Amino acid sequence: MIRIFLAFFVLLSNVIFSQNKLNLIPYPQNVAFNDGVFMIPDVLKLSNDLPQNETEYFKKRMTSGLKFQSSKRADAQLVYSQLPKAPAGKEESYILTVSPKQIHIQSYTQQGYFLALQTLIQLFEEYKGAQKIPALKIEDQPKFAWRGMHLDVCRHFFTVDEVKQYIDYLAMYKLNTFHWHLTDDQGWRIEIKKYPKLTQIGSKRKESMIGAYVDNTFDGKPYGPYFYTQEQIREVIQYAQDRHITIVPEIEMPGHALAALSAYPELACTKGPFEAATKWGVFDDVFCPKDETFTFLENVLDEVIRLFPSQYIHIGGDECPKTRWKECAHCQELIRKNNLKDEHGLQSYFIQRIEKYVNSKGRKIIGWDEILEGGLAPNAAVMSWTGVNGGIEAAKSKHFAVMTPGAYCYFDHYQGDPQSEPNAFGGFTPLDKVYSYNPVPAELNAEQAKYILGVQANLWTEYILDFKQVQYMIFPRLMALSEVGWGTSDPKNYKEFENRVINQFKVLDKMKVNYAKSIYNISGKVVPSGSGIAYELSTSQNSDGIRYTLDGTVPTIDSKTYQNPVTIPGSLTIKSAYFEDGQLKSAVSTQQFIVSKSTGKSISLEQQPSENYSFGGAFTLVDGIIGNVKQLGKTWLGFQGKDVVATIDLGQKTGFSEVYFNTLENKGSWIHLAKSAQIFVSDDNKNFKMIKEIGKEEISNAKGKIRLNVGSQNARYFKIKIENAGIIPAGNPGADSKAWLFVDEIGIN
Ligand code: ACM
Ligand code: ZN
Repeated sequence: MIRIFLAFFVLLSNVIFSQNKLNLIPYPQNVAFNDGVFMIPDVLKLSNDLPQNETEYFKKRMTSGLKFQSSKRADAQLVYSQLPKAPAGKEESYILTVSPKQIHIQSYTQQGYFLALQTLIQLFEEYKGAQKIPALKIEDQPKFAWRGMHLDVCRHFFTVDEVKQYIDYLAMYKLNTFHWHLTDDQGWRIEIKKYPKLTQIGSKRKESMIGAYVDNTFDGKPYGPYFYTQEQIREVIQYAQDRHITIVPEIEMPGHALAALSAYPELACTKGPFEAATKWGVFDDVFCPKDETFTFLENVLDEVIRLFPSQYIHIGGDECPKTRWKECAHCQELIRKNNLKDEHGLQSYFIQRIEKYVNSKGRKIIGWDEILEGGLAPNAAVMSWTGVNGGIEAAKSKHFAVMTPGAYCYFDHYQGDPQSEPNAFGGFTPLDKVYSYNPVPAELNAEQAKYILGVQANLWTEYILDFKQVQYMIFPRLMALSEVGWGTSDPKNYKEFENRVINQFKVLDKMKVNYAKSIYNISGKVVPSGSGIAYELSTSQNSDGIRYTLDGTVPTIDSKTYQNPVTIPGSLTIKSAYFEDGQLKSAVSTQQFIVSKSTGKSISLEQQPSENYSFGGAFTLVDGIIGNVKQLGKTWLGFQGKDVVATIDLGQKTGFSEVYFNTLENKGSWIHLAKSAQIFVSDDNKNFKMIKEIGKEEISNAKGKIRLNVGSQNARYFKIKIENAGIIPAGNPGADSKAWLFVDEIGIN
């Protein structure tokens, strides 16, 4: 019943859509339709007084076969009028009027004209088949002044041409800020004339981590030297300026400094030597706040400021461990001398000193959340990434903030079910999640909300090896960001937005952009069914297009059509895919089931898992799915400092002789193996008898993959207690904190 209703709704919304909504992204603030149409000619007459650079860009971007001819204004079909001086906040606004005779653009600035042209390009693309554009008037302007995308070129490097393509993508969807992450532990990527070793030494690393972080595997191949010369930087800045995009360069400090320290070890607290990092993460060796370091950073910033015309210079500030500062005589003396509270105060001292310098050059600093530590520098803007609290704190204290919370804006996260996606950092940020984001936190009043400059998405490239993968990770999510930043997103009508996204795929196809098709992908959910389980498949598209197999073969259009949740009678693998017009549209989704006598049975937990690792609740432990170590957010339950105490009702007296479960170990992430496990049986769910107990050593010997022979049992209730490792012992990451215990499945045979 629900499915029929949904299909009807999609049909209905398509009809409304074709009548009322244009296929534009970001959707404009105001669209009014008028009578008549503008017939698209073979040769479009351009008024000879159009702004030149932007018009040249327009001509190059038009891929619809249209030709152009210059003509005097009176005869032209595209004309432009510059409006008098822009009122504050209106710099990017424009009016685009399509009438039967001509197309007229009005704006205060050439940037407004450029944005109007983006709209016009999308209109031509949409209506070229019909050869006519309906008469209309679009009055448009963005809600947020900062609509940004970030690119990390340190973990992996991207060429000048690739960076230019990236900038083109921003321009197409009316973003206006490119945050160029130029320095980090794994590589220094900007030529600094005064410090040649930064690129001679710091732009190389011995090898790189490959695969999932937990694999701890390296490729053994030297990486680099990779960097941009100042001439190349100038070329990219010009390219961005031609597209009305501001580049904000980032020079990381005081942390994420290993590549710089590999070249200039004297800037650290300890002697070194240091090497550019080969693995991902956060490292203890950071800049030491000595005069020599400040002189170095000021000289670096001088060159950066000379190159980049942006109002803001990003100085990083994130993830700076205080380990070295705590043990450094100079750092401790500085804390005493300046009456600083502690090392967090020293972080604040560091940032404030840099801010003063940057301000003295007529520029402002922006930094990640952690620049709030120990007190915010007087004029600094905050880039809120760990969540929204940094942005809220900044706005409440009258500092500007750019919102880029990980859960919504980190495009290195998965955008579909990880098992159908290429290896990614982790997390789950699908298109609809990005689209649902509102950059203005509800906690702010109208006055405070004015300090929310805008929104940005970040692309960290630890797991992004080439530019095809960059394209994959940003598309189509960049379109959602674009509409969020423009201020016309409407999460209630996500489906309508998704239709416009699918329409844009035609443009990306033509440009040979490798976008993600994850929105077509199939989501699977295990549901209880009778005394076992069934697998429910869905896609955001019409689910009639789902085909599946149970014999391990790849589904084709002729495979079984999905109708109802598929009963899983025993251990098997289900493969599914989405087809449209006979064509495979999605990735093939594969799910293996290991069915035991506890699968699908009623289960209760004495203590609930931690919120971020609670996946499908207690049922996750009897859903027939063995956890993948690369997907902690899925199929595993995580318990911080808590034991797993699970009781399973088998429904009737059931014979069994084996019990199995898996627990994980990843000490770097505070995940420890269980300390012990005890197994009990009962017939009345009150009086339990212990039938087996194992200790730390057995669990450790089995590397967490526990298979226990429990003798011949016959019982209705079965209880297992898996003991958390407790407080993490000294000498381990996270010492003195509560350990995590992860469990995926509890089976019996
Ligand atoms: C960050 O993701 N470390 C800003
Ligand atoms: Zn120091």
